[in-house]
Amino acid sequence: MSFTVAIDGPAAAGKGTISKGVAAHFGFSHLDTGLLYRAVGRRTLDGTSAVTAAQTLTAEELQQGDLRTAEIAQAASKVAVIPEVRAALVDFQRAFALRKGGAVLDGRDIGTVICPQAEVKLFVTASAEVRAERRFLELAAKGGDATRDQVLADVRERDMRDAERSTAPMKPADDAVLLDTSNLSIEDALAQAVSLIEVKFPV
Ligand code: DC
Repeated sequence: MSFTVAIDGPAAAGKGTISKGVAAHFGFSHLDTGLLYRAVGRRTLDGTSAVTAAQTLTAEELQQGDLRTAEIAQAASKVAVIPEVRAALVDFQRAFALRKGGAVLDGRDIGTVICPQAEVKLFVTASAEVRAERRFLELAAKGGDATRDQVLADVRERDMRDAERSTAPMKPADDAVLLDTSNLSIEDALAQAVSLIEVKFPV
């Protein structure tokens, strides 16, 4: 039996934590689709063409090194604008979504383009200031030296590029449930996501 949960939204809204929690709660497989774009973005930093990198991407690349740096995030957002890059990553994501036992995918276009038939669609968001503060603390904990202002500017730049591109822009699907985590603890955000899914998941 397949059962797909699509979780979309901007950077640092809480998608990743909610997706991992949902996967653990229901025993679903989880795919952070941002890692695909980050792995492609990282290859372009070495001079590889983005389309070649996407067409030859391997699962191992997703495990190698730290893909969650600010530099790779910007590179990911830039390659994500290219239609051929997005097209090269579709089959892998769709196959993952149909895994037996259920799957949760988080990204920007899961509910709109990759899995329009998903049983549950959530669009997780929060104000740019709250998201930048979370990302700032995350990067600082890893020893990064970016200032709060730089992180906020980065978040805004990426939001704009992700939402305004012409292919698969970040936006809620018409049938997505919006979850604003600006004033929610992670436990409360996860509890809300779990109860929305429980209504649809045949246990
Ligand atoms: O979720 P993230 O911050 O790891 O994503 C990095 C970039 O990848 C994001 O700025 C846009 C792109 N992306 C995308 O275009 N579509 C997805 N499904 C996931 C990520």
